[in-house]
Amino acid sequence: MRTVTVGLLGCGTVGENVLWLLQKRKDIFDNLGVEVVVAGVLVRDAARVRDIPAGITLTDDPAFLQECAVVMECMGGIERPLELLAPYLRSGRPVITANKALLAERWDDLRDHALAGRLYYEASVMAGTPVIGPMSTVLRASTFVRLQAVLNGTCNYILTQMEAGREYAAALAEAQALGYAEDPPTLDVGGFDTAHKLTVLARFSADGNYPFSAVQVTGIEDVTLEQIAAARERGERIKLVAELVKVDGQWQATVSPQSLPDTHPLCTAGASRNALVYEGEESGTLIFAGGGAGGMVTASAMVGDLLDWLIGFPGHVPLH
Ligand code: NAP
Ligand code: HSE
Repeated sequence: MRTVTVGLLGCGTVGENVLWLLQKRKDIFDNLGVEVVVAGVLVRDAARVRDIPAGITLTDDPAFLQECAVVMECMGGIERPLELLAPYLRSGRPVITANKALLAERWDDLRDHALAGRLYYEASVMAGTPVIGPMSTVLRASTFVRLQAVLNGTCNYILTQMEAGREYAAALAEAQALGYAEDPPTLDVGGFDTAHKLTVLARFSADGNYPFSAVQVTGIEDVTLEQIAAARERGERIKLVAELVKVDGQWQATVSPQSLPDTHPLCTAGASRNALVYEGEESGTLIFAGGGAGGMVTASAMVGDLLDWLIGFPGHVPLH
Protein backbone atom coordinates (compact mmCIF):
# COMPACT_ATOMS: atom_id res chain seq x y z
CA MET A 1 0.00 0.00 0.00
CA ARG A 2 1.33 3.44 -1.02
CA THR A 3 0.72 6.34 1.38
CA VAL A 4 -0.42 9.64 -0.17
CA THR A 5 -0.45 12.72 2.07
CA VAL A 6 -3.25 15.20 1.38
CA GLY A 7 -3.51 18.76 2.70
CA LEU A 8 -6.94 20.35 2.95
CA LEU A 9 -7.39 24.13 2.89
CA GLY A 10 -10.78 24.96 4.46
CA CYS A 11 -13.19 22.93 6.54
CA GLY A 12 -16.56 24.57 5.95
CA THR A 13 -19.54 23.37 3.91
CA VAL A 14 -17.31 21.73 1.28
CA GLY A 15 -14.23 20.79 3.34
CA GLU A 16 -16.17 18.85 6.00
CA ASN A 17 -17.81 16.78 3.28
CA VAL A 18 -14.48 16.13 1.54
CA LEU A 19 -13.23 14.60 4.80
CA TRP A 20 -16.35 12.42 5.17
CA LEU A 21 -16.20 11.30 1.54
CA LEU A 22 -12.50 10.37 1.77
CA GLN A 23 -13.45 8.13 4.67
CA LYS A 24 -16.64 6.74 3.07
CA ARG A 25 -14.89 5.81 -0.22
CA LYS A 26 -11.84 4.25 1.43
CA ASP A 27 -12.59 1.05 -0.54
CA ILE A 28 -11.91 2.77 -3.85
CA PHE A 29 -8.53 4.04 -2.61
CA ASP A 30 -7.78 0.55 -1.27
CA ASN A 31 -8.49 -0.82 -4.75
CA LEU A 32 -5.86 1.55 -6.14
CA GLY A 33 -3.40 0.41 -3.46
CA VAL A 34 -3.39 3.86 -1.87
CA GLU A 35 -3.76 4.92 1.74
CA VAL A 36 -4.86 8.56 1.87
CA VAL A 37 -3.51 10.35 4.95
CA VAL A 38 -4.81 13.85 5.68
CA ALA A 39 -1.70 15.63 6.94
CA GLY A 40 -3.55 18.74 8.09
CA VAL A 41 -6.63 20.91 7.60
CA LEU A 42 -6.22 24.69 7.50
CA VAL A 43 -8.95 26.81 9.13
CA ARG A 44 -9.20 30.25 10.75
CA ASP A 45 -10.51 28.97 14.07
CA ALA A 46 -8.93 25.62 14.96
CA ALA A 47 -10.73 25.51 18.35
CA ARG A 48 -14.25 25.47 16.88
CA VAL A 49 -16.00 22.10 17.19
CA ARG A 50 -16.90 20.62 13.78
CA ASP A 51 -18.70 17.65 12.29
CA ILE A 52 -15.67 15.78 10.92
CA PRO A 53 -14.23 12.25 11.17
CA ALA A 54 -12.10 11.43 14.24
CA GLY A 55 -8.34 11.85 14.14
CA ILE A 56 -8.20 14.91 11.84
CA THR A 57 -5.82 17.74 12.79
CA LEU A 58 -7.22 21.25 12.38
CA THR A 59 -4.75 24.11 12.41
CA ASP A 60 -4.35 27.77 11.48
CA ASP A 61 -0.70 27.12 10.55
CA PRO A 62 -0.15 26.08 6.90
CA ALA A 63 3.32 24.57 7.61
CA PHE A 64 1.90 21.05 7.00
CA LEU A 65 1.65 21.87 3.28
CA GLN A 66 5.37 21.15 2.97
CA GLU A 67 4.81 17.46 3.58
CA CYS A 68 1.76 17.05 1.29
CA ALA A 69 1.80 15.26 -2.05
CA VAL A 70 -1.42 17.03 -3.13
CA VAL A 71 -3.47 19.94 -1.83
CA MET A 72 -7.25 20.28 -1.95
CA GLU A 73 -8.40 23.90 -1.64
CA CYS A 74 -11.91 24.82 -0.51
CA MET A 75 -11.28 27.90 1.64
CA GLY A 76 -12.55 30.55 -0.80
CA GLY A 77 -11.23 34.07 -1.23
CA ILE A 78 -8.48 35.04 -3.65
CA GLU A 79 -5.32 36.51 -2.12
CA ARG A 80 -4.80 34.05 0.75
CA PRO A 81 -5.32 30.83 -1.26
CA LEU A 82 -3.09 32.18 -4.03
CA GLU A 83 -0.36 33.04 -1.50
CA LEU A 84 -0.49 29.43 -0.24
CA LEU A 85 -0.94 27.65 -3.57
CA ALA A 86 1.46 29.54 -5.85
CA PRO A 87 4.70 28.27 -4.23
CA TYR A 88 3.16 24.82 -3.89
CA LEU A 89 2.32 24.68 -7.62
CA ARG A 90 5.75 26.05 -8.51
CA SER A 91 7.24 23.07 -6.67
CA GLY A 92 5.55 20.90 -9.34
CA ARG A 93 2.89 19.40 -7.07
CA PRO A 94 -0.83 19.21 -8.00
CA VAL A 95 -3.70 21.28 -6.62
CA ILE A 96 -7.41 20.44 -6.61
CA THR A 97 -9.66 23.45 -6.13
CA ALA A 98 -13.36 24.39 -6.00
CA ASN A 99 -12.49 28.08 -6.07
CA LYS A 100 -13.81 29.66 -9.26
CA ALA A 101 -13.15 33.23 -8.04
CA LEU A 102 -9.45 32.42 -7.78
CA LEU A 103 -9.41 30.70 -11.19
CA ALA A 104 -11.32 33.50 -12.90
CA GLU A 105 -9.47 36.43 -11.36
CA ARG A 106 -5.86 35.17 -11.02
CA TRP A 107 -5.46 33.26 -14.26
CA ASP A 108 -2.11 34.91 -15.05
CA ASP A 109 -0.67 33.17 -11.98
CA LEU A 110 -2.36 29.83 -12.63
CA ARG A 111 -2.55 29.29 -16.40
CA ASP A 112 0.91 27.75 -16.88
CA HIS A 113 0.19 25.26 -14.11
CA ALA A 114 -3.17 24.40 -15.72
CA LEU A 115 -1.45 23.93 -19.10
CA ALA A 116 1.03 21.62 -17.38
CA GLY A 117 -1.90 19.52 -16.08
CA ARG A 118 -1.23 20.29 -12.40
CA LEU A 119 -4.56 22.03 -11.70
CA TYR A 120 -7.79 20.05 -11.18
CA TYR A 121 -11.02 22.07 -10.84
CA GLU A 122 -14.13 20.08 -11.80
CA ALA A 123 -15.87 21.31 -8.63
CA SER A 124 -15.50 24.96 -9.56
CA VAL A 125 -18.38 24.96 -12.10
CA MET A 126 -21.68 23.14 -11.44
CA ALA A 127 -20.10 21.41 -8.40
CA GLY A 128 -20.51 17.62 -8.83
CA THR A 129 -22.19 17.84 -12.26
CA PRO A 130 -19.30 17.19 -14.66
CA VAL A 131 -18.95 19.85 -17.36
CA ILE A 132 -15.29 20.83 -17.14
CA GLY A 133 -14.22 17.21 -17.74
CA PRO A 134 -16.08 16.87 -21.07
CA MET A 135 -15.26 20.43 -22.17
CA SER A 136 -11.54 19.94 -21.51
CA THR A 137 -11.42 16.57 -23.29
CA VAL A 138 -13.79 15.09 -25.91
CA LEU A 139 -15.64 18.30 -26.74
CA ARG A 140 -12.42 19.97 -27.92
CA ALA A 141 -12.80 18.11 -31.22
CA SER A 142 -16.07 19.87 -31.90
CA THR A 143 -16.33 23.44 -33.23
CA PHE A 144 -17.84 25.42 -30.38
CA VAL A 145 -20.84 27.54 -31.33
CA ARG A 146 -22.55 28.75 -28.17
CA LEU A 147 -23.42 27.92 -24.59
CA GLN A 148 -26.23 28.98 -22.30
CA ALA A 149 -26.32 28.00 -18.64
CA VAL A 150 -27.76 28.41 -15.18
CA LEU A 151 -24.69 28.18 -12.95
CA ASN A 152 -25.62 29.58 -9.54
CA GLY A 153 -27.53 27.49 -6.99
CA THR A 154 -28.19 30.43 -4.67
CA CYS A 155 -29.88 32.54 -7.37
CA ASN A 156 -31.80 29.52 -8.62
CA TYR A 157 -33.04 28.85 -5.09
CA ILE A 158 -34.04 32.48 -4.50
CA LEU A 159 -35.88 32.84 -7.84
CA THR A 160 -37.71 29.54 -7.32
CA GLN A 161 -38.77 30.55 -3.81
CA MET A 162 -39.96 33.93 -5.15
CA GLU A 163 -42.16 32.06 -7.67
CA ALA A 164 -43.96 30.71 -4.58
CA GLY A 165 -44.35 34.25 -3.24
CA ARG A 166 -41.38 34.31 -0.78
CA GLU A 167 -39.66 37.66 -0.27
CA TYR A 168 -36.15 38.00 -1.74
CA ALA A 169 -34.43 38.61 1.64
CA ALA A 170 -36.03 35.56 3.31
CA ALA A 171 -35.12 33.32 0.36
CA LEU A 172 -31.50 34.56 0.40
CA ALA A 173 -31.23 33.84 4.15
CA GLU A 174 -32.46 30.28 3.50
CA ALA A 175 -29.95 29.75 0.70
CA GLN A 176 -27.20 30.90 3.09
CA ALA A 177 -28.43 28.51 5.79
CA LEU A 178 -28.34 25.65 3.26
CA GLY A 179 -24.65 26.37 2.61
CA TYR A 180 -25.18 27.41 -1.03
CA ALA A 181 -24.10 31.05 -0.82
CA GLU A 182 -20.66 32.61 -1.14
CA ASP A 183 -19.10 34.82 1.50
CA PRO A 184 -20.25 37.55 0.84
CA PRO A 185 -23.50 36.55 -0.94
CA THR A 186 -23.22 39.62 -3.20
CA LEU A 187 -20.97 37.34 -5.25
CA ASP A 188 -24.04 35.19 -5.96
CA VAL A 189 -26.90 37.68 -6.27
CA GLY A 190 -24.74 40.26 -8.07
CA GLY A 191 -24.03 37.66 -10.80
CA PHE A 192 -20.26 37.63 -10.15
CA ASP A 193 -20.08 33.94 -9.13
CA THR A 194 -21.86 33.03 -12.38
CA ALA A 195 -19.42 35.29 -14.25
CA HIS A 196 -16.47 33.54 -12.57
CA LYS A 197 -17.83 30.17 -13.72
CA LEU A 198 -18.57 31.41 -17.24
CA THR A 199 -14.99 32.71 -17.47
CA VAL A 200 -13.66 29.26 -16.52
CA LEU A 201 -15.87 27.61 -19.18
CA ALA A 202 -14.89 30.17 -21.85
CA ARG A 203 -11.27 29.09 -21.49
CA PHE A 204 -12.17 25.58 -22.71
CA SER A 205 -14.43 26.66 -25.54
CA ALA A 206 -13.60 30.15 -26.81
CA ASP A 207 -10.21 31.47 -25.70
CA GLY A 208 -7.71 29.88 -23.29
CA ASN A 209 -7.00 33.32 -21.84
CA TYR A 210 -10.57 34.63 -21.64
CA PRO A 211 -10.50 37.46 -19.07
CA PHE A 212 -13.04 37.75 -16.25
CA SER A 213 -13.19 41.50 -16.90
CA ALA A 214 -14.75 40.85 -20.34
CA VAL A 215 -17.94 39.34 -18.89
CA GLN A 216 -20.93 41.74 -18.83
CA VAL A 217 -22.70 41.13 -15.53
CA THR A 218 -26.20 41.93 -14.22
CA GLY A 219 -27.42 40.20 -11.05
CA ILE A 220 -30.86 39.38 -9.65
CA GLU A 221 -31.09 42.04 -6.95
CA ASP A 222 -33.58 44.12 -8.93
CA VAL A 223 -35.85 41.25 -9.96
CA THR A 224 -39.26 41.80 -8.30
CA LEU A 225 -42.01 39.43 -7.17
CA GLU A 226 -44.28 41.19 -9.70
CA GLN A 227 -41.90 40.41 -12.62
CA ILE A 228 -41.67 36.80 -11.53
CA ALA A 229 -45.47 36.45 -11.21
CA ALA A 230 -45.95 38.07 -14.64
CA ALA A 231 -43.45 35.63 -16.17
CA ARG A 232 -45.32 32.68 -14.62
CA GLU A 233 -48.58 33.96 -16.14
CA ARG A 234 -46.90 33.93 -19.58
CA GLY A 235 -45.71 30.34 -18.99
CA GLU A 236 -42.13 31.55 -18.38
CA ARG A 237 -39.57 31.53 -15.57
CA ILE A 238 -36.92 34.09 -14.68
CA LYS A 239 -33.44 32.55 -14.48
CA LEU A 240 -29.97 34.07 -14.09
CA VAL A 241 -28.50 33.02 -17.43
CA ALA A 242 -24.84 32.85 -18.47
CA GLU A 243 -24.31 33.03 -22.22
CA LEU A 244 -21.25 32.76 -24.45
CA VAL A 245 -21.69 33.42 -28.16
CA LYS A 246 -19.79 35.00 -31.05
CA VAL A 247 -21.03 38.46 -32.04
CA ASP A 248 -19.40 40.19 -35.02
CA GLY A 249 -16.46 37.80 -34.81
CA GLN A 250 -15.83 38.40 -31.08
CA TRP A 251 -16.74 36.10 -28.20
CA GLN A 252 -19.29 37.83 -26.01
CA ALA A 253 -19.94 36.58 -22.46
CA THR A 254 -22.94 37.88 -20.53
CA VAL A 255 -24.69 37.12 -17.25
CA SER A 256 -28.22 38.51 -16.85
CA PRO A 257 -31.72 37.60 -15.63
CA GLN A 258 -33.81 36.31 -18.54
CA SER A 259 -37.40 35.19 -18.84
CA LEU A 260 -37.41 31.76 -20.52
CA PRO A 261 -40.33 29.57 -21.62
CA ASP A 262 -41.15 26.67 -19.27
CA THR A 263 -40.15 24.32 -22.09
CA HIS A 264 -36.58 25.70 -22.32
CA PRO A 265 -33.96 23.08 -21.27
CA LEU A 266 -32.64 25.47 -18.59
CA CYS A 267 -36.15 25.34 -17.04
CA THR A 268 -37.02 21.68 -17.66
CA ALA A 269 -33.75 20.69 -15.92
CA GLY A 270 -35.63 21.21 -12.63
CA ALA A 271 -36.25 24.17 -10.38
CA SER A 272 -33.26 23.67 -8.13
CA ARG A 273 -30.74 22.30 -10.62
CA ASN A 274 -27.89 23.92 -12.52
CA ALA A 275 -28.01 23.29 -16.24
CA LEU A 276 -25.86 23.93 -19.31
CA VAL A 277 -26.80 23.74 -22.98
CA TYR A 278 -23.66 23.30 -25.11
CA GLU A 279 -23.85 23.71 -28.87
CA GLY A 280 -21.04 22.38 -31.04
CA GLU A 281 -21.08 22.02 -34.84
CA GLU A 282 -20.03 18.38 -34.77
CA SER A 283 -21.17 17.32 -31.28
CA GLY A 284 -24.64 18.81 -31.77
CA THR A 285 -26.54 20.15 -28.78
CA LEU A 286 -25.72 18.64 -25.40
CA ILE A 287 -27.52 19.26 -22.12
CA PHE A 288 -25.87 18.85 -18.71
CA ALA A 289 -27.97 19.19 -15.56
CA GLY A 290 -27.61 18.42 -11.88
CA GLY A 291 -26.77 19.76 -8.45
CA GLY A 292 -24.60 22.87 -8.65
CA ALA A 293 -24.16 23.82 -5.00
CA GLY A 294 -23.97 22.09 -1.63
CA GLY A 295 -21.33 20.38 0.46
CA MET A 296 -21.43 16.73 -0.61
CA VAL A 297 -22.16 17.28 -4.31
CA THR A 298 -19.11 19.58 -4.45
CA ALA A 299 -16.98 17.18 -2.42
CA SER A 300 -17.84 14.42 -4.91
CA ALA A 301 -16.16 16.42 -7.70
CA MET A 302 -13.09 17.21 -5.57
CA VAL A 303 -12.61 13.61 -4.51
CA GLY A 304 -13.22 12.60 -8.14
CA ASP A 305 -10.37 14.92 -9.13
CA LEU A 306 -8.17 13.30 -6.47
CA LEU A 307 -8.92 9.88 -7.99
CA ASP A 308 -8.12 11.21 -11.47
CA TRP A 309 -4.73 12.41 -10.24
CA LEU A 310 -4.03 9.10 -8.47
CA ILE A 311 -4.92 7.17 -11.62
CA GLY A 312 -2.63 9.39 -13.68
CA PHE A 313 -5.03 11.63 -15.60
CA PRO A 314 -3.81 15.21 -16.04
CA GLY A 315 -5.73 18.14 -14.59
CA HIS A 316 -8.05 20.36 -16.63
CA VAL A 317 -6.03 21.83 -19.48
CA PRO A 318 -7.46 25.02 -21.08
CA LEU A 319 -7.20 25.88 -24.80
CA HIS A 320 -3.62 26.56 -25.80
P1 NAP B 1 -17.15 28.00 3.93
O1 NAP B 1 -18.23 27.12 4.44
O2 NAP B 1 -17.20 29.45 4.25
O3 NAP B 1 -15.75 27.39 4.42
C1 NAP B 1 -14.55 28.07 4.24
C2 NAP B 1 -13.49 27.38 5.08
O4 NAP B 1 -12.22 27.95 4.80
C3 NAP B 1 -13.71 27.50 6.58
O5 NAP B 1 -13.36 26.30 7.22
C4 NAP B 1 -12.74 28.63 7.00
O6 NAP B 1 -12.23 28.48 8.31
C5 NAP B 1 -11.60 28.42 6.02
N1 NAP B 1 -10.93 29.68 5.71
C6 NAP B 1 -11.42 30.73 5.03
N2 NAP B 1 -10.48 31.72 4.95
C7 NAP B 1 -9.41 31.27 5.61
C8 NAP B 1 -8.12 31.82 5.89
N3 NAP B 1 -7.77 33.04 5.47
N4 NAP B 1 -7.23 31.07 6.58
C9 NAP B 1 -7.56 29.83 7.01
N5 NAP B 1 -8.77 29.25 6.77
C10 NAP B 1 -9.67 29.97 6.08
O7 NAP B 1 -17.06 27.92 2.32
P2 NAP B 1 -17.57 26.73 1.39
O8 NAP B 1 -19.02 26.93 1.08
O9 NAP B 1 -17.12 25.44 1.92
O10 NAP B 1 -16.82 27.08 0.01
C11 NAP B 1 -15.44 26.92 -0.10
C12 NAP B 1 -14.98 27.10 -1.53
O11 NAP B 1 -15.68 26.19 -2.37
C13 NAP B 1 -15.25 28.48 -2.13
O12 NAP B 1 -14.24 28.81 -3.03
C14 NAP B 1 -16.56 28.28 -2.88
O13 NAP B 1 -16.74 29.19 -3.95
C15 NAP B 1 -16.36 26.89 -3.40
N6 NAP B 1 -17.60 26.16 -3.70
C16 NAP B 1 -18.58 26.09 -2.78
C17 NAP B 1 -19.72 25.38 -3.07
C18 NAP B 1 -20.84 25.29 -2.08
O14 NAP B 1 -21.92 24.82 -2.46
N7 NAP B 1 -20.68 25.72 -0.83
C19 NAP B 1 -19.85 24.72 -4.30
C20 NAP B 1 -18.78 24.79 -5.23
C21 NAP B 1 -17.67 25.52 -4.91
P3 NAP B 1 -13.19 28.62 9.60
O15 NAP B 1 -14.13 27.45 9.50
O16 NAP B 1 -12.31 28.53 10.78
O17 NAP B 1 -13.91 29.92 9.45
N1 HSE C 1 -22.43 29.94 -4.22
C1 HSE C 1 -22.38 28.99 -5.29
C2 HSE C 1 -23.76 28.77 -5.84
C3 HSE C 1 -21.80 27.70 -4.78
O1 HSE C 1 -24.73 29.18 -5.20
O2 HSE C 1 -23.89 28.22 -6.94
C4 HSE C 1 -21.52 26.70 -5.87
O3 HSE C 1 -20.53 27.15 -6.74
